[in-house]
Amino acid sequence: MQQQIYKEAISASIFKYISKASQDLGIKSYVIGGFVRDYLLQRGNAKDVDVVAVGSGIALAEKVAELLPTKPKVQVFKTYGTAMLRYKDIEIEFVGARKESYSEESRNPEVEEGTLQDDQNRRDFTINALALSLNTEDFGLLLDPFNGVEDLTSKTIRTPLDPSITYSDDPLRMMRAIRFASQLNFTIEPRSLEAISKNSDRLKIITKERIVDELNKMMLSAKPSVGFLLLESTQLLPLILPELIALKGVEEVEGQKHKDNFYHTLEVVDNISKNTNDVWLRWAALLHDIGKAPTKKFHKKIGWTFHAHEFVGSKMVFKLFKRLKMPLNNKMKFVQKMVLLSSRPIVLASEVTDSAVRRLIFDAGDDIESLMTLCEADITTKNPNKFKKYHKNFELVRQKIKEVEERDHVRNFQPPITGELIMETFNLEPCREIGQLKEAIKEAILEGEIPNEYEASYQFMLEKGRSLGLMKD
Ligand code: CTP
Repeated sequence: MQQQIYKEAISASIFKYISKASQDLGIKSYVIGGFVRDYLLQRGNAKDVDVVAVGSGIALAEKVAELLPTKPKVQVFKTYGTAMLRYKDIEIEFVGARKESYSEESRNPEVEEGTLQDDQNRRDFTINALALSLNTEDFGLLLDPFNGVEDLTSKTIRTPLDPSITYSDDPLRMMRAIRFASQLNFTIEPRSLEAISKNSDRLKIITKERIVDELNKMMLSAKPSVGFLLLESTQLLPLILPELIALKGVEEVEGQKHKDNFYHTLEVVDNISKNTNDVWLRWAALLHDIGKAPTKKFHKKIGWTFHAHEFVGSKMVFKLFKRLKMPLNNKMKFVQKMVLLSSRPIVLASEVTDSAVRRLIFDAGDDIESLMTLCEADITTKNPNKFKKYHKNFELVRQKIKEVEERDHVRNFQPPITGELIMETFNLEPCREIGQLKEAIKEAILEGEIPNEYEASYQFMLEKGRSLGLMKD
């Protein structure tokens, strides 16, 4: 076989230092994994570099740090036998070449020293087992024992060893396989796919945080449906997001069908991914219809309904985030808000009134743009006339939003009349009527009865106060 040399891949000065340090210690070292893969795929230079030393990875890291002019701090992870340092904007992780043997209960293997070949054997995929030599005698030589380059060319995800061993040893790799397929637009070879289905249950030994990490990477790929369809066909999805599986299927009663909300959802996620890289807005697209499964009903007169599915769905978002140990912070609240409001602009698209637009802007606040992006992605009709019509209606809604916002400024609504002023005017102690008055003023502004201004609101307050018997004429 022809020997390929990729000196230019490792021309950055850091690699010269690692090479020199290895020589000083009399050991061999190699760059391995994602850095080599991404270089060959021309995905730009990765900032995470994995180095394997045939000897002690920790000793190599310490030697490199000593040689580097910046004398960086070495972080040692004794339990894993690894060490990490930063140089310029690159993070380099060092590990000693190893053999691994796994037990049933854990993805943390028993480890013993090994050769480079042992170390390549323990890697997840052929495309991640590629190594470049950092040794003086063959600097830049590619070591590719499993034809990883061929798999890069044919866009194939394949394990170096028997796939059932690779996935059962470390079930996180099932998620990684699917994530890489989605991210790189690769195909998982059939034996691997079969092994993932067979081992799907082993996902339970993986922490939620790692599963979510992979989900987020999948979610950020150009066409996330690739990943979600694979999760579904390998039976992993019910273990992670049963709420999505519940959306699968079409029911027919008395000749009336509803759409398959699972496939519809995936289309919405793909659509939105063309317009936003915000992972939370993509999550909102994935979850926007989850309330449809528990609210689905058939009525003889009106057919299928999903009454209040947006409200139910937004409550489900909290439970789902909690179960997956995702952050229960503003990002989750944003997803909840998007789910809750997800049908509002659609209703508007058929009849655009000023007051409805004002209410929408008031409720969505600064997230109005995101909400419109979600609703446009939600248009998945295959009827070209309807498709055009719906998009045109949304253009009108957007236009109207702009006009109303320029005029009425309700996006970040600040009540023009404060509680203090109400108390002062009517000589009141804190009481229920103050809240009632404030609410009445807000309603009048949103309905368009009065402009969003101090003077008009003040007059309105006086009248309303009188009608509530708060002030004698
Ligand atoms: N690896 C593995 N099994 C895992 C995780 C990682 O065999 N469960 C190996 C692979 O060789 C991988 C390398 O460790 O290439 C580095 O892992 P990591 O940094 O997590 O992933 P990358 O492949 O670099 O890719 P990405 O940064 O996109 O996650």
